[in-house]
Amino acid sequence: MTAPETTVERVGIVGCGLIGSGIAEVAAAAGLDVRVAVSRPASRDRGLALLRRSLARSVAKGRRTEAESAALLANVAFTTDLDDLADRSLVIEAVSEDERTKQDVFGRLDKIVEADDAILASTTSSIPIMRLGRATSRPDRVVGMHFFNPVPAMRLVELIPSLATDEAVTRRATAFVAGTLGKEPIRCADRTGFVVNTLLIPYLLAAVRMVESGTATAAVVDQAMVLGCAHPQGPLALADLIGLDSVAAIAEALYAEFREPLYSPPPLLSRMVECGLLGRKSGRGFYAYP
Ligand SMILES: NC(=O)c1ccc[n+]([C@@H]2O[C@H](COP(=O)([O-])OP(=O)(O)OC[C@H]3O[C@@H](n4cnc5c(N)ncnc54)[C@H](O)[C@@H]3O)[C@@H](O)[C@H]2O)c1
Repeated sequence: MTAPETTVERVGIVGCGLIGSGIAEVAAAAGLDVRVAVSRPASRDRGLALLRRSLARSVAKGRRTEAESAALLANVAFTTDLDDLADRSLVIEAVSEDERTKQDVFGRLDKIVEADDAILASTTSSIPIMRLGRATSRPDRVVGMHFFNPVPAMRLVELIPSLATDEAVTRRATAFVAGTLGKEPIRCADRTGFVVNTLLIPYLLAAVRMVESGTATAAVVDQAMVLGCAHPQGPLALADLIGLDSVAAIAEALYAEFREPLYSPPPLLSRMVECGLLGRKSGRGFYAYP
C-alpha cells in the first residue's frame, strides 16, 4: 500500500487531448511528478505534440525559458498502462466526453489506485459527478474538476462535489487547484453545465438561432457583441473555437437535464455537426480556417 500524502505530489492524468495535455503542463510547471495514461501510442504522440506546441508558445512569448520548458517536460511521463497510476494521490480523468468511456475509466481506476485517500477527479463538462462516482466503490473520493481551454491560460476551475463526495476531499481538491496550480476555484453544485456552461451555452445557441432566422450574419452578430458589449470575441467565433460538436453535446446534456427549450440545439447547429463543420478543429464552422 502506497503511503498517503497530505499534499498532492504524484498526479495521474488519463487522456492527453486538449485538456489532459493542458493539465499535464500546469501540474508539471508546479513541480509535481506527473504521469499521463493514454489508450494507445498515437494518443501519446498527439498529447506530446500538444504539450510541446504550448511550451514553444510560452517560450516565444517570454513566459519561460527553453531550460524551464525542458525541465517541465522532464516532470511528465507517459504510459499506455493504466496500472501505472497505482501510486498516484490524485488522478484526473480527461478522456473524451462519453459517459460509458468515463465510467469504464473510473471503474478501472477504482481497482488500480492504491491509497484509500487518493482523489479521483473528472474534467467532464456535462456528466453528473454522481454517475462517475457510482462507477467506483468510493464515490466519497470522486469530485469534478472542470478546467477551461487553454488550461495554462484560463484561471478558472469549477469544483464539483457530488452529494456523496466527502467534504475533506473537496477541501483538498480546492487547495490543490488554488495553492498548487495557482488557479481560481469556484464550487458548483452537481448539475449539468455547472455555472459557466449553463450561462454560456444558451447565449451561443441564441446567436446560432439569430443566424438561422436571417436576423443577421455570423460576422454581424459577432461584431455586435465585440463592439457593443466589449466581449473579446463574438459568440459564433467562440462556438467555432470550442467546437460545434462540443457545443451541441453540452446543449443536449443541458436539455436532457432541465427540459428547457433554451438549451435545445437549433437545427442549423445539428446539421453543421452532421456535415462535419465543427469549427476551428475541422477547418470550417461559421468561419473558414485555412
Ligand atoms: N475542449 C474544451 O474546451 C473543454 C473544456 C473543459 C472541459 N473539457 C472536458 O475535458 C474532457 C476532455 O476533452 P478534450 O477537449 O481534451 O478532448 P480531446 O478529444 O482533445 O481529448 C480526449 C482524449 O481522450 C482520449 N481517450 C479516449 N478514451 C480514452 C481512454 N479510455 N483512456 C485514455 N484516453 C482516452 C482520446 O484519445 C483523446 O486523446 C472532456 O470531458 C471534455 O468535456 C473540455
